[in-house]
Amino acid sequence: MADKTLIAPSVLASDFSRLGDEVEAVAAAGADWIHLDVMDGHFVPNITFGPPVIKAIRNRTDKFFDCHLMIAPADPYLAAFAEAGCDGMTVHAEAGPHLDRSLQTIRNLGKKAGVSINPATPESAIEYVLDRLDLILVMSVNPGFGGQAFIPAVVEKIRRIKALVGSRPIHIQVDGGITEETAPLVTAAGADVLVAGAAIFKGDSVDAYRQTIEAIRNAGNAAA
Ligand code: DX5
Ligand code: ZN
Repeated sequence: MADKTLIAPSVLASDFSRLGDEVEAVAAAGADWIHLDVMDGHFVPNITFGPPVIKAIRNRTDKFFDCHLMIAPADPYLAAFAEAGCDGMTVHAEAGPHLDRSLQTIRNLGKKAGVSINPATPESAIEYVLDRLDLILVMSVNPGFGGQAFIPAVVEKIRRIKALVGSRPIHIQVDGGITEETAPLVTAAGADVLVAGAAIFKGDSVDAYRQTIEAIRNAGNAAA
């Protein structure tokens, strides 16, 4: 039993007509980070929001803004996302040919640097950039949509990534299909930050959000 699991609600599943209020609500409900899914309709088959929207909600909480950039290319936009108020930026290893450069750019902007890998991408894709990373985001669904089913094959990959990371201070985050049931599978394998969208936002009040956040966190901690 550990007590280190961080919960990052994904606002993708929130009511976009009340986005600022939703961010405040999950923050009040005990979210550790706010997960912001940026989609471009090119790298993934869906479009969400960009820097102006992030800037508009920045003043609604002090929580860490964890920006998951599902965009290609990412490099031309990193400065704009930093300026908008992202605290960490995660780029996809599959989204461009110069991952090492992207990660250097994020750190040079003074932000936490993350890399994400899709379900079919092996952990070897990040082996030579480990020292440039603050976070590794393991996708447990194919990116583009909320509410999809967890892909069990990623559990073994998380275990291998945990071994690769060794003693480096790198978060291992899992995103997609996280619930009270799947959380223990991934924390037992080494994950310490859990993204959850549909599971949390199916509730309709701060109390409901809090119950789900605590249930996922407790389930994760119990297996970590
Ligand atoms: C999917 C996004 C996820 C998504 C997770 O492309 O990266 O962050 O919101 O949603 P759930 O928890 O509903 O699977
Ligand atoms: Zn995400």
